[in-house]
Formats: sequence, structure tokens, C-alpha cells
Amino acid sequence: MDGNGRWAERRRLPRAAGHRAGVEVLTPLLEAAGRVGVRTLTLYAFSTENWARPEDEVDTLMSLFLETAHAKVPDLNERGARLRFLGRREYLPASVLEAIQEAEELTAHNDKLDVYVALNYGGRSEIVDAVRRIVADGLLPEDVDEATFARYLYAPEVPEVDLVIRTSGELRVSNFLLWQIAYAEFYVTDTLWPDFSQEEFLQAIESFASRSRRRGGV
Ligand code: FPP
Repeated sequence: MDGNGRWAERRRLPRAAGHRAGVEVLTPLLEAAGRVGVRTLTLYAFSTENWARPEDEVDTLMSLFLETAHAKVPDLNERGARLRFLGRREYLPASVLEAIQEAEELTAHNDKLDVYVALNYGGRSEIVDAVRRIVADGLLPEDVDEATFARYLYAPEVPEVDLVIRTSGELRVSNFLLWQIAYAEFYVTDTLWPDFSQEEFLQAIESFASRSRRRGGV
């Protein structure tokens, strides 16, 4: 959800206003996703690197997650979304952890759309955490193949990523789902996240649908 800061700066507003505007995109986006039959959507909300931002921005983001959880989870639940969170749970404030748990429990039995929120998430941390658990489980080298490894990821049930949408024109992966995006298609747009509309989401899906995915074959 990149470009919130720039969106605010262009309007001479504090960065927090950009993050707030970014939250407003979520409901229309999830509504469009449900409508076109997307089954799984992952939102990159806070990376393991985002702790390096100024303390007041980190605090604002944590408050915004809480506020967003309280404001949006009941509606998402009614729309049949199942919410799950990806990332290291340590370091997150207790209030955020509690909100995460409540959201996961409340929506656990929904089956229309799986919404994953990557929070204190890093693709490299996820791989390191998987290796740690594989070692802790005492697996032998010959026991570890790609399928076994994938079972140790944060959410092994998540299907491989089909499409990554990157807003604000950035041409990098930024530590997002490194294992899962091996064969993902990319849709990069200059649109800043708070301006990302249902129309552009559908455009991204159409772009994806028109591609030929060869996965190393011909
Ligand atoms: C990146 O824009 C955005 C973030 C680090 C935060 C995104 C989080 C939200 C919109 C809150 C959503 C909440 C939930 C629970 C899903 P940036 O600040 O890097 O923008 P810039 O690159 O223009 O500076």
C-alpha cells in the first residue's frame, strides 16, 4: 500500500493523513475483490523494516491498525471475509495483538474471501523462521524439499501468489512474500495508494488475465 506519505506531502498534510486516506481504499478494494471472485488477498501493512521510521509515525500506524480493526472488522465479517495476520507477533503492542486475535477468531469460519494482513512482516524473516522451525523439529536434510519447506511458512494454506500490485511506481519487491511470489505476475502503477480505485484494481486483474504464464516452460 505504497505512496501514502507522498499523497499527504503533495497536499501539504502530515504523513498520518496519507495513511488515513489509505485505509479508506480498503473497503472498496475488498468489495471489488469479492465481486470478481478473488479468493485470497494479502495487504502489506507494516514491514519488519518499518520500525526504522520516526517513532511518532510508528505510533500513528499502530493506533491506525487498532482503529481500523475496530471500525472495519465487523463489516468485513458480515461480508464473509476471513482475516489472518502474517508476520512476527513479537514487538507488536499488546493492544494490537489482542485486536489481531479477536479479528482472527471472529472471522475464522468465513469462506468468501481470505484477507491476509502482513504486519511486522518480512519475507526474509519468514524464511528464517521456517528454517528455525524445521531445525527445531529435527528434520534431516533429505526430508526437506520445496513442499516440506512451504509447510513451515507463516500461512502454509495460502496459495502461491498470482498477482502482485505495486502502487506509487516502485520497481522493487521490498521483502514481500519472497517465497510465494516466485512465479507471480506484477502490475506496477504510478497511482499512489490512497488514489487506488476499484476501476484500477479491475484493470490490474484484466491485465493479469491477458498474460500467458509459462512458468519456465514454453
Ligand atoms: C506505505 O506508504 C504504507 C505504509 C507503511 C502503511 C500502510 C498501512 C495502512 C494504509 C493502514 C492499513 C491498515 C490495515 C490494518 C490493513 P509510505 O508511507 O511508504 O508512503 P511513501 O512511500 O509515499 O512515503
